[in-house]
Amino acid sequence: MISRQSIDAVINAAAIEEVVGDYIALKKRGANLLGRCPFHDEKTPSFTVSPAKGIYKCFGCGKAGNSVSFLMEHDNLNFADAIRKLAAKYNITLEEDTIINREEYNEAQQKRENLLIALLFARDFFREQLKSEEGRIVGDSYFRERGFTQQTIDEFELGYSPQGWESLVNAAKANRFNLDYFADAGLVKKKEDGSYFDMFRHRVIFPIHDLTGKVIAFGGRQLEKDERSPKYLNSPETDVYHKSQVLYGIFQAKKHIKALNNCYLVEGYTDVTTLHQGDVKNVVASSGTSLTEGQIRLIKRFTDNVTVLYDGDAAGIKASLRGIDLLLEQGLNVRTVSFPEGEDPDSYCKKLGAAAFREYLQSANKDFILFKTDLLMEGVANDPIKKTEVVKSLLTSISLIPDALKRAAYARECSKLMDMDEKLLLVEIAKLRKSKGSIEQQVISTEIRDMLQTELPKPETYSGGDLQELHLVRLLIQSGHKKFTEDTTVADFIFKELQEDEALRIVNPVYQKVIEEVAGNILSTPEDFTLSEQFFINHEDGDIRRLAADFLTERYELSPAWLEGGIVLKTERENYVHDLQSLFLFLKKTKVEQLIKANLEEFGNAADEHQKESCMQYHMQLIGVRNAIAELLGTVVSS
Ligand code: UTP
Ligand code: MN
Repeated sequence: MISRQSIDAVINAAAIEEVVGDYIALKKRGANLLGRCPFHDEKTPSFTVSPAKGIYKCFGCGKAGNSVSFLMEHDNLNFADAIRKLAAKYNITLEEDTIINREEYNEAQQKRENLLIALLFARDFFREQLKSEEGRIVGDSYFRERGFTQQTIDEFELGYSPQGWESLVNAAKANRFNLDYFADAGLVKKKEDGSYFDMFRHRVIFPIHDLTGKVIAFGGRQLEKDERSPKYLNSPETDVYHKSQVLYGIFQAKKHIKALNNCYLVEGYTDVTTLHQGDVKNVVASSGTSLTEGQIRLIKRFTDNVTVLYDGDAAGIKASLRGIDLLLEQGLNVRTVSFPEGEDPDSYCKKLGAAAFREYLQSANKDFILFKTDLLMEGVANDPIKKTEVVKSLLTSISLIPDALKRAAYARECSKLMDMDEKLLLVEIAKLRKSKGSIEQQVISTEIRDMLQTELPKPETYSGGDLQELHLVRLLIQSGHKKFTEDTTVADFIFKELQEDEALRIVNPVYQKVIEEVAGNILSTPEDFTLSEQFFINHEDGDIRRLAADFLTERYELSPAWLEGGIVLKTERENYVHDLQSLFLFLKKTKVEQLIKANLEEFGNAADEHQKESCMQYHMQLIGVRNAIAELLGTVVSS
């Protein structure tokens, strides 16, 4: 188990806006930050982050919590792994309490860590080699010839892999590393006789970083043209490198993409580095492969606007038009820039100089529809059959756009460009959308969901844990200001309990709001904040007022529904101490049961034995917790 101290250190260090900011774009809104919720589809941002309170909350779907719960939810991690991830981000060394629980260290996690260590060592090795005699003569001079500055080399952590077959192997050996990790990372290969050799030899090295700056792979470029090996040698897929989920340069670009609310998409490593050096820093590369949904999702965390920069060759562009469709389908606004024949962004930037190149990006960028029309209409002239094909292709792209208003605007644009009846085009678009049944359904359901989101779930609809949450909030409103022990209030107790266990997160958004409101006030003004019924009754938030009014005017009966076995608790206000204790136990029991169910489901879907094994271990733990709670419940409820 990670020690309490370590957990606290991590939680203190993890600024909510930085943690959330790694995943989604946030804009300042008063004291808070606002962004689009990563947990549900939404058009208008309702995901609120409060740096002061260290919490986030989505007013659309109700998800809320702190940095740890954000990672748990977003990356589907358990508490300990979320802490580990944050610890890595903030460079905090975790102490483990006992040795027994080291076994609990999931094997896969261990393996990933080993991979990352090997990659980190390799990065430092390659960087170091760039400064060696060979590296200076061969690698560094290559970079200089291509105009790379020292700053670019440092920022992108570029390096050099020497000519020998065992340079990295020997360095790793000298540092007593297990070479198998390096083999797993694709850095070395094992020969039949059991010895190892380097994969990257005599190349300049481009490390590939994840969103948080960790090196997860490498690309190595040959120094002179040699048909016998690839121009760029890339790391293979590993447990930490999933090519389809990675964009080269995203770590260096993310804050600029956010700030400029636009992302330039290029093909190659050097396009990224050269543009970055030319002060176009909001740029990432798909690294020569066709764009994937995972890569688009990565961009979408920071902006809705993409400008695709195409190398200048019409056949190549036509082949990559599918990328535009994918971007449109994901709701992104797409603009394009193309370059003269034979130029790519890197070469053209060098040719024009950075300032003129930036001008060019501004003046030559076209909306996708115009770009695609120009491209496809080349040479078509008045051939009606070919023209129809072009229109079909344009309409197909337009039909993929999820937003109906944008579709209509593009239909108008298209009708102008192609000189065709707008209404006719709209009908055609509608047909195209219908023919893709599943997409259509998805779009409808998100549209409906968007609509529904404006109305928060009504507190009248209770079920399972929800009902327990209701009673918790009822107690907070009715009795929060009362003494629980000599020097704590009921509210204190409730917050302490809620903080104690991440699994006790309140799910219902209205209740969450109440809890958060009280917590925020207690935290910000602990001295002069006194909780009173008036606080809720006169609250500026309508939902809270309504809830308070309900609770304080009516007397809620605790129904047998949430107390299995038909036990009914007394609900007199004086009884809150007893109520509270049992309430938390019931709440915990419900949550544990939910965890058990989810874990069993995961077990059922487990991909391999390791995962099954860790599910089983977790299951045993959960059962233990559930039994302990049940035992406690027996004593509290019957007393
Ligand atoms: P390019 O061939 O356009 O190279 O491949 P480039 O980016 O312009 O590189 P320089 O300027 O010649 O150095 C575009 C991208 O495709 C991937 C790389 O990510 C490259 O940056 N690629 C290309 C490979 O992975 N392997 C290859 O052999 C070639
Ligand atoms: Mn190039």
